[in-house]
This record gives sequence, C-alpha cells and structure tokens, in this order.
Amino acid sequence: MLSERIQIISSEFGIDISKVKDLKDLENLRLKYLSRNGIIPLLFEDLKSASKEEKPLLGKSLNELRNYATNQFDSLKENLEISSSAKEDKIDLTLPGIIKTLGSKHLLTQTLDEIKSIFKGLGFSILEGPELESDYNNFEALNFPGDHPARDMQDTFFINKEFLLRTHTSPVQIRVMSSQKPPVRAIMPGRVYRNEAVSSRSYCMFHQVEGLYVDTDVTFAELKGTLVSFAQQFYGEGLNYRFRPSYFPFTEPSAEMDITCYLCHGKGCKVCKQTGWLEILGCGMVDPNVFGYVNYDSEKYTGYAFGMGIERTAMLKYGITDIRVFFENDIRFLKQF
Ligand code: PHE
Repeated sequence: MLSERIQIISSEFGIDISKVKDLKDLENLRLKYLSRNGIIPLLFEDLKSASKEEKPLLGKSLNELRNYATNQFDSLKENLEISSSAKEDKIDLTLPGIIKTLGSKHLLTQTLDEIKSIFKGLGFSILEGPELESDYNNFEALNFPGDHPARDMQDTFFINKEFLLRTHTSPVQIRVMSSQKPPVRAIMPGRVYRNEAVSSRSYCMFHQVEGLYVDTDVTFAELKGTLVSFAQQFYGEGLNYRFRPSYFPFTEPSAEMDITCYLCHGKGCKVCKQTGWLEILGCGMVDPNVFGYVNYDSEKYTGYAFGMGIERTAMLKYGITDIRVFFENDIRFLKQF
C-alpha cells in the first residue's frame, strides 16, 4: 500500500538523516531520497496508478513527505557548511591569544644611556660630531704629525687624501674646542671605524665615548677622581682600579685605567691574560700642542681627556667574550638584557 510506504520511508529518512556526519554523507542522502531517481520522486510515479478516490489524500501526504525531507536536508546542509568552513580556517577557540612581544633597547643603547647619565651627574654635557671626518681633525690637530708612526696605531678607512672615517671620537674634541671658549666639560659619544680584521675582540665599526674638561687649573687628580667615580657607579662600589702610564699623541701625561678582572677577580686568567687587570679606558692631560691647534692659551688653561669603547665597556660589565654579538641582532642574545 502506498500510504504505508510513505509512512515507512518517512521514518527511514528520519533515521538516515540522523546518521549524517558530513557533507559527503549528506550528498549520499540526497541521492538516495531526493534526486531525480531517488525514493521520494519514485513514489510520485506510483501515485499515478492509485485510484481516483485515494489520489488527493496520498498526493497530500507525499507532498508533505517531500517538503519535510527537503527542509531537513536544507537546514542540515547549512549547519554542516558552517562548521566545515570553520575547520578549514583552523579556528581553535580554545587556543590562547597571540601575545605581542615588546621590543627593548639594544644593550649598547642601554650602556650608553647609563654612561651618559653618570657623566651628566658629574657636570658633563653631551655633544656629537660627524663620522666622516677630516684627516686634520682626526690626526693633525690631535698632534699626529704627517708621517708620525702613531698614525699606525689605528688602521684607517680613508675616503681620499683629505677625508676618512673617524678612527676615534677624539676629533670631536677639536671641533668643540675650535667652536667654543673654555670652560668646556662634555662627553661625546659616537660610532668609529677601524680597518681591522674582524675577530672576537675587534670589529671594523664600534662605539666610543670621549670626555673632555678644559678650564683654568684642571689637574690630573681631578681626572682620576672623575674616572674613579664613574667606574664605581658603573661597575660597582667594591671595585679595584689602577692607572697605568701609557702614550697618546694628544695627551701628556697619558694613562690607561684598569679594573680588576671580572672573571678571576685578580687571580689571573685567560680573559685578563694572567694579569688580573682589564683596561677600561685611555686618558690623560690635554697636550699643550693640541691647545695650539684650537687657539686655547696653554699658559692659562689645562684640561683632561678620556676615551672608552662602549662595546668593550658592556663586555666587561656583563662578561661578554665576543664583540660580534652586538651586531648580529640575534634575539636570543638581545633578550637577555
Ligand atoms: N682616542 C683614544 C683611542 O681611541 C682614547 C683616548 C681618548 C685617549 C682621550 C686619551 C684621551 O684609543
């Protein structure tokens, strides 16, 4: 009987649709029940052979079956499409959000900031000069005469006969003294260049901080007092230091300042080459010849100058043994500071 089959097929459809898990199952369901040769359209074929009296009622319940199946199919299709597109986008709402990491200052910037603030506290202002410098400012006026062997202390990148990449920040001393009268008390940080083979201890470009104080009656004792105060603030109170005679063409007398080796605490090791000491800076009293080049009266004024490498300073403070890490920008290194 057609009316019974309509009943059976309606409940079979209900069971089948409840088993549908994905769009593929759903398509099979459609083929089985709703496609042109599917079960439901075929029932309409059977309707043709029903009696006149039965037709209206059977037709009505067949229409109801078809509408019921189509509606069920449509709404399930919509749901499955939504969840499958969510799967494609790989949205996993249980995952934690993406945390944006904040950048931080490069260790060299942090070190320079600290050096600046200590010297500001000691009454120094901050000045700067260019990296492309004249031979005159970099050597000549700093008392390195033309063929003076001291020029070989620093391997120079020459641009031409007259210009070069500055090999130290000392030419800023010349610029400052040529443009202002004493008293002068300033530090001058910046980038410098040397034509050296790159190794764990030297790089073709690095940073220095120059210091200069010129006034009447400036003494070597003041130089020492200032630098000891700086070193204690920067490296820590308990530190041991010494001043060792040295040579620079633009200072007389000249010295280098050492602090106790951070690694062996003075016992002697590979880092300090068994001396127990590490050099932190060069310094001295401004040579009267330099005053001659900048028209300062060397009978009236005295001054001191010092210079330190910023990479070196950071390396000593944090126990870094390879200068190249400053320029590799490896996040794993930078993140530690
Ligand atoms: N300019 C010297 C250097 O680069 C350092 C220095 C600066 C020494 C000032 C004495 C006075 O090695």
